[in-house]
Amino acid sequence: MPLTFDPTSLPRHSAINNTPVWARLHQHQRATRHMHMRELFAQDEQRFYRYSVELDGLLLDYSKNRITDRTLELLLELADTAKLGQWQQWMRSGQRINISEQRAVLHTALRLPPGQRLLLDGCNVVDQVQQVLDACSHFAEQVRSGAWRGHDGQAVTDIVNIGIGGSDLGPLMVHEALRPYCQPGLNVHFVSNVDGQHLAQTLEQCMPGRTLFIVASKSFTTPETLLNAHAARRWLVSHAGEEAVSRHFVAVSTNHAAVQAFGIDTANMFGFWDWVGGRYSVWSAIGLPVMLAIGPVQFRRFLAGGAAMDEHFFSAPFARNMPVLLALIGIWYNTFYGAHTHAIMPYDHGLRRLPAHIQQLDMESNGKRVGRGGERLDFDTGPVIWGEEGVNSQHAFFQLLHQGTRLIPSDFILPLNSHYPQGDQHRVLVANCLAQTEALMRGKSEAEVLQELAHLPGDELDILLPQKLFPGNQPSNTLAIDRMTPYTLGMLLALYEHKVFVQGVIWGVNSFDQWGVEYGKQLAAQLLAEMDGQRATPHDASTTGLMRHFRHRYQGGEA
Ligand code: F6P
Repeated sequence: MPLTFDPTSLPRHSAINNTPVWARLHQHQRATRHMHMRELFAQDEQRFYRYSVELDGLLLDYSKNRITDRTLELLLELADTAKLGQWQQWMRSGQRINISEQRAVLHTALRLPPGQRLLLDGCNVVDQVQQVLDACSHFAEQVRSGAWRGHDGQAVTDIVNIGIGGSDLGPLMVHEALRPYCQPGLNVHFVSNVDGQHLAQTLEQCMPGRTLFIVASKSFTTPETLLNAHAARRWLVSHAGEEAVSRHFVAVSTNHAAVQAFGIDTANMFGFWDWVGGRYSVWSAIGLPVMLAIGPVQFRRFLAGGAAMDEHFFSAPFARNMPVLLALIGIWYNTFYGAHTHAIMPYDHGLRRLPAHIQQLDMESNGKRVGRGGERLDFDTGPVIWGEEGVNSQHAFFQLLHQGTRLIPSDFILPLNSHYPQGDQHRVLVANCLAQTEALMRGKSEAEVLQELAHLPGDELDILLPQKLFPGNQPSNTLAIDRMTPYTLGMLLALYEHKVFVQGVIWGVNSFDQWGVEYGKQLAAQLLAEMDGQRATPHDASTTGLMRHFRHRYQGGEA
């Protein structure tokens, strides 16, 4: 395939499921599905060393998977069949691989160091990125040092980021994860939900003269964000007057005109570009609240971590390539085992919002039933992503992982050192994480249970034995991180971004559009117009009934 991407040269149907390797993978799954990971470990003392990869303080152990060398060989062949290497080059060089929106996909350019060159429509995007980064850095330094003053001369103590989806989840998660790096006395809040309590409860913690609002919206048309931004503006104006707005509102957006129309001084607007997808935008000016909290130097380390993973992804052989391996193993379960979900379990309180971020990243990218060419795909694509921090999750839903009926692959993410050493707590956390992956893998056999219950009389034993059995063979990857720093977090996020990209390439979907969220938005706008008195369009009986119920019960009370 040529380096210049030409969508018309692509096969009309990706048809990956009609390739010989696809059939061989199905065959291989049928032949090996009864194999137990216990046996695989027993047969190969080197399994951990052979099935793990390390990069700059991030170790991926993928040995606790139902895979053999043959499985990997076939999966790697699948990646080659899907022309993964070609797609990597197309993405990296700024080809318009987001076909349905005719856009380049260049979040990796956001992490390139200054001085590099990457031309898009004749402009060096690296220079554009660095200019915005410098502007954000200058602004962040002013706020952090107290040089930036509010309308009545006070320094900023509270920053409220108003955004939703990619304009919220990424920065929120990164901010939580990097708390130890945040400047004390500078509180960052995130408001996303159009439910008024989210903003109201946040504003209760803020003083108008000391609060800075960041309105973060790529499109600057998202109703939830604009409603919250207007409400925040009213709050400020009611306390401090109209002239306070320019000192207390800044915007992050690609839409200059809409920011201006909102009344924000465009001198205080930080831009980005249509080639940055919302769910990939935390590396852009959308990361401003993070930069304000951790400072520009640490923010650049976060970018450097992302860049290190990019370099690895673009240059490491697929057999030693972390994102490629994670993606292929995910496809093995999702497509060939029919596993519907994938769990993300961070053993780190700071990473507790990571599952939500990866959920958007993965499900909005690969939750597609149609291929790039518009063809209906007749195999499963993106899995349901879910998860919760350990050890809390152990006491909530791990029962089902251990003894339920479903195959649930998972990722365990474990920082090996804590920023908050408290007695023995971190070692207990680590022990729990490792114990869970071991238990999920090996299970507990009948012989082992019998040994434990040897003292019981026969009839009691008959009842209890099956209850105490653990089938095991439940797959997991472990991502062990030396310490959660801006750099290692950058690597971790970029790793998941590339994993999602690889899966999208193999399934033949466009991972960079999100038409599926539009229809609900249209219907909500229509229902709102009907609430405002416009003539009702026909609905189903349930929606009509619920609207009528709302009208009867709603007591008003909103502005
Ligand atoms: O509704 C989905 C979505 O378009 C996401 O893809 C995006 O991250 C979010 O809404 C917010 O969009 P914006 O940044 O344009 O307000």
